[in-house]
Formats: sequence, C-alpha cells, structure tokens
Amino acid sequence: MKLLENIYLVGSGEIGISNKYDCHVYLIDGGDDAVLIDSGVGIDSNQIINNIKEHIPYEKLSRILLTHVHADHCGGAVDFQKNGIKVLVPDEEAQLLTNARGDIIEAFKLAQNAGAYPNDYNFKFFEPDNVILENEKIIVGKYEITPIHLRGHSPGLFCYYLKSESENILFTGDQVFINGAIGLLNCPGSDLNEYRQDIGKLKDLSVDALLPGHRLFVVKNGQQHINQAISNLSQVFVPAIF
Ligand SMILES: [Fe+2]
Repeated sequence: MKLLENIYLVGSGEIGISNKYDCHVYLIDGGDDAVLIDSGVGIDSNQIINNIKEHIPYEKLSRILLTHVHADHCGGAVDFQKNGIKVLVPDEEAQLLTNARGDIIEAFKLAQNAGAYPNDYNFKFFEPDNVILENEKIIVGKYEITPIHLRGHSPGLFCYYLKSESENILFTGDQVFINGAIGLLNCPGSDLNEYRQDIGKLKDLSVDALLPGHRLFVVKNGQQHINQAISNLSQVFVPAIF
C-alpha cells in the first residue's frame, strides 16, 4: 500500500494486509537500495514478502532496521535473514537480546496474556547482523535516515527520521502514536520517567508524516501529534496509552 512517494506499508495486522499479529511494517525505496522498518511477528512472513514484491524487486531489499525487539516488530527477522537480508538492531536493544533474555521473555508473556500473541506462538530469538548507533547516518539509496534513541517503551528503541524531497517522515515504532498517545507498558523495560526525560528529542523535527508501529498513521501535520505527547508528558497525569 503506497503511503507516500517511495514509502509503502507492506505489513500490518490491523489494516489487514498481513498476519493479524504483525505491527505496521514500512518499506522505504531509495532507488538502488531499499529497507524495511521492522519485520512483523514472523507467523506468516510470506504475506509481507509478497506485498514487498508488488512494489520493488525483492532482491533490492538489503536490510531491516528494527525499532526495538518486541516480538510483533522483530519476530519475523529470521525469515528475512534466511534470504540474505541483514537485520540491523539499535545497540541497546541488541544488548537485551544477549544479556536480558529473561526480561524479553517476561514482557512477551505479559503481552501474550493480553492476547497480543496466540498461545501457540513462540518468539524466535535471532542474532543481529549489525548494531546501529544513535546519530549514525543510514544511507538507503538517495535517502539518509537518522536514528533517534528514546527510552520509555523499550530501553534502546530508535525512531527513524527521514527528510525526503517533499516530507519529513518519522517512523516511531511504539514510542509515539497519533493524538499524542504513548506506548507505556506494564513490563520490564518500560518506564514513564524515561518517557518524560526523552520525549523532548522529538520537538523540533517538523514532522509531516508520523508513521507508528500500530494504529492510524498520518501523512501531514505529524508534529502536532508529537507535540501533544510532549505536552501530555509535561503534566502530572499519566498520558493516554495507545
Ligand atoms: Fe513494542
């Protein structure tokens, strides 16, 4: 599904274009190179692959940039690695995969208890092909993508910022959603104090398109939704959760 010039939605359980447990999976086509933002849950990655093929030759896809290592965003990573596609992980999220598997499993089980995953689904751990550092520029053909580290939802989560010819685009994973909702969870790694400390990093980006990992996305005035989250987090009440 085309969202913007060279930006496509290729996975989403909520929209109904891939497995119902997939987060939104975005494809960025930079011309001679292409990447995904997140991989989906991995229950039926072929649906995502088929959607990718509607827009680009599959061979053009070189990498997946993960926002964080919750299962709905990264469970399908191994399915793409089998095809030679590199999976890049924010550095602190990669550390969780090696040093804090218990936390990941606890968060996963709490989400599974809430119906976020089917009872017979097991999270597939994977080895990152590379780690990404904050402010490292990621070149995708004609585009340059800047990772921005924000804590609160998961300790090492990266939002990805892309200034295209016509829009400023922010892929937010589970950090910020439309109408200023946040992704605070009752599980290891999620922390309201950290949300409050880091949200200001998004204040001056003049975002047009706000492309989160769930719920509705917008292609105009995205900064208003982000500013709402910043405002919500400046007040004493716990902000609305997505
Ligand atoms: Fe998440």
